[in-house]
Amino acid sequence: MDHLTRRPRRNRKSEVIRNMVQENHVAVHDLIFPVFMMEGTNLAVEIASMPGIYRYSPDRLLEEIAQCVDLGIKTFAPFPQIDEGKKDRFASESKNPEGLYLRTIAEIKRNFPDVVLMTDVAMDPYSSDGHDGIVDNGEILNDATLEVLGQMALAQAQAGADIIGPSDMMDGRVAHIRQVLDSHAFTNVSIMSYTAKYASGFYGPFRDALGSAPKHGDKKTYQMNPANSREALIEAELDIAEGADFLMVKPALAYLDVIKLLKDNTNLPVAAYNISGEYAMVKAAAQNGWLDSEKIMLEVLLSMKRAGADVILTYFAKEFAQYMKK
Ligand code: PBG
Repeated sequence: MDHLTRRPRRNRKSEVIRNMVQENHVAVHDLIFPVFMMEGTNLAVEIASMPGIYRYSPDRLLEEIAQCVDLGIKTFAPFPQIDEGKKDRFASESKNPEGLYLRTIAEIKRNFPDVVLMTDVAMDPYSSDGHDGIVDNGEILNDATLEVLGQMALAQAQAGADIIGPSDMMDGRVAHIRQVLDSHAFTNVSIMSYTAKYASGFYGPFRDALGSAPKHGDKKTYQMNPANSREALIEAELDIAEGADFLMVKPALAYLDVIKLLKDNTNLPVAAYNISGEYAMVKAAAQNGWLDSEKIMLEVLLSMKRAGADVILTYFAKEFAQYMKK
């Protein structure tokens, strides 16, 4: 056997050394916690396909946020479950300041002025068609939808949103939202664009949580084809030119290469959305005793950091914060 001068194992010989040479870290302040809300009082309904994640009535959501704030979580991305009777073709309820979403956003900001809220801009939770844009004869109308998205973003900014998160994938929406916000003196409200959002099967549990699945057709004319990565650079180029403050890749786990692609080719912060189906897979396997949920959580979040994510939206946020406390 030849003499070995290079022995990479020396840098793995103890926990202290391993920690010293660790290249990537996940911190609680990197994380955004997506939370679900519903009408009512004193309600917390667990989402069947997302063990540990609940849909809360506004009063209980405030309690949940208080607990998370104590754990060091500072940023939340709320999503509303809207009663079927309030949905229509034009997502009118999304602009109602007294409606569930905007009223609750304002209340969270009143109770927790330092909490950062990222609000969701897309029509699907409020649309009787369950699509992110206006449907006309089976077609999703791009430019007419921009009007709705601009008004929705403005109403959210008026309710106190800190970051607007357009998740709809219409062309030109970042520029349009930026222009509407700026012309109403909301120049300080940020935009985190869902830059590369793929037409994915991993959204299933989220659509269960909100009851927002498309009533007909799929989202392939606006969300990206999972087979493409260079196309993500076109979307990124446009979002940057249109004034986005953050670029996001969604889903994250099956798209780590796309996160890396955006990180290597752009200079804006890159976010990864560790989505509902990714969470559900881990929890389902853990419930069967097939995987260790905590280990997988840490490994999954690290993989996103390694790929280049600065920010991670994840349903594991609270669990991760609890893990860091102990
Ligand atoms: C829709 C939206 C979706 C998610 C966030 N916003 C699903 C979809 O496009 O149908 C999914 C998030 C998740 O799965 O965790 N505007």
